[in-house]
Amino acid sequence: MNLFDNIKQSVFASSEILSNSHIPQRLPSRDNEITSVSTIFRPALMGGVPPNVIIYGKTGSGKTACVKYIIQEFERARKKQRITHAPYIYMTCCVDTKGPIDLIIKILRSIDKKNTTTTGHSTHVYYDKLFAHLNKARRGLILILDEIDAIKKGQEFLYMLSRASEMREIKNGIYISIIGLTNNMQYATTMDPRVKSSFGTHWILFPPYTAIDLLDILEDRRKAYHVDAIEEGVIPLCAAIAAQEYGDARKSIDLFRTAGEIADRAASSRVLMSHVQNARIELEQEQIKALLIRLPLQSTLVLGAIIELRENGHIISTTGEISKTYFSLATTYTISPLTHRRVTDLISELAMLGLINSKKRSRGRAQGYIREVWLTLSDEEIHILNIHLETTLTASSITPFPSQTPHL
Ligand SMILES: Nc1ncnc2c1ncn2[C@@H]1O[C@H](COP(=O)(O)OP(=O)(O)O)[C@@H](O)[C@H]1O
Ligand SMILES: [Mg+2]
Repeated sequence: MNLFDNIKQSVFASSEILSNSHIPQRLPSRDNEITSVSTIFRPALMGGVPPNVIIYGKTGSGKTACVKYIIQEFERARKKQRITHAPYIYMTCCVDTKGPIDLIIKILRSIDKKNTTTTGHSTHVYYDKLFAHLNKARRGLILILDEIDAIKKGQEFLYMLSRASEMREIKNGIYISIIGLTNNMQYATTMDPRVKSSFGTHWILFPPYTAIDLLDILEDRRKAYHVDAIEEGVIPLCAAIAAQEYGDARKSIDLFRTAGEIADRAASSRVLMSHVQNARIELEQEQIKALLIRLPLQSTLVLGAIIELRENGHIISTTGEISKTYFSLATTYTISPLTHRRVTDLISELAMLGLINSKKRSRGRAQGYIREVWLTLSDEEIHILNIHLETTLTASSITPFPSQTPHL
């Protein structure tokens, strides 16, 4: 018997349609948003100045997909009308979350392929170079910054660019328009008031998708599978699960794809509803793993303390108990411990990440409150977490266990 004898035909006809890099032909349920965003670009085609804009919405609400689609259309219009002004630059800031210097170097190279500016000067030199270049070329610039919140020293960068014409750094008629995209719904509150005012009222919200919107989006990708390879109810289930979880289109597509991968692994000729349920568990576990891997060492140690307490029968523990266990773990792993106050902050951060839950409980009059903490993870997830803790803590520790003196 050959190893590959019982390989069945895959349920996928074209799995690429469900990949992250696929550019959809149609963007259902985003007509209003596409109209609002394209209005920003319009003045540029008529020789005017596009306003600064922030596009915000939860992850998977279609911001990147819509902006890329509009850029494509904008480029077509520029070519058709033979417009050479109004160049635009699209940058994803989360890929390499660099500060102003790297961003300006990227912009300069993008405007002028032969530009040889390198790092090593002080920041103002780069701003001067950028402004000088625009003045000389006598043109404006539309800067599209995807995941704008990821830029280091982002407020300084945005301040310098948004005030360039006001400060007469760039000549009349030359502009730098910023279109920022962010998943952070609270981005406005993190902004320097001077930067915020340069964006005025130009804030465009991408609301979460409803289950019906997601149904429409997924139906367009049904052709990723062979005809009849999907059980009825699979697409509505993917849409319903993702709608419950913040209406995230990426999540709905990931579920639809992972369900197919599970069907293939099980050598099933069809994608079943049960495969979608398993895909949901698989994706959640991947999400937790990804979260844990990025967790800083001290937070990992605090989480380790909560797990240790649980393993010793404390399903619910107090911040005082966690702190104590944390200090003893820090000693074991020779890691410099943080203060009790910082440990409390890290506990709040873990709660924000959804890894733990916590509740304040009154200890009666004059005794104040205590904070009770418990893990929200399943046994399976705690197992994954334990393995991760073990490797991280052992790797970071100089002498994890007291060294034994050999008998002579
Ligand atoms: N209206 C839509 N129609 C079709 N696919 C969409 C739509 N909105 C989002 N998507 C898809 O969902 C995924 C996430 O969208 P994306 O634009 O990256 O979200 P965001 O930038 O808001 O986090 C992408 O694969 C994208 O192609
Ligand atoms: Mg995006």
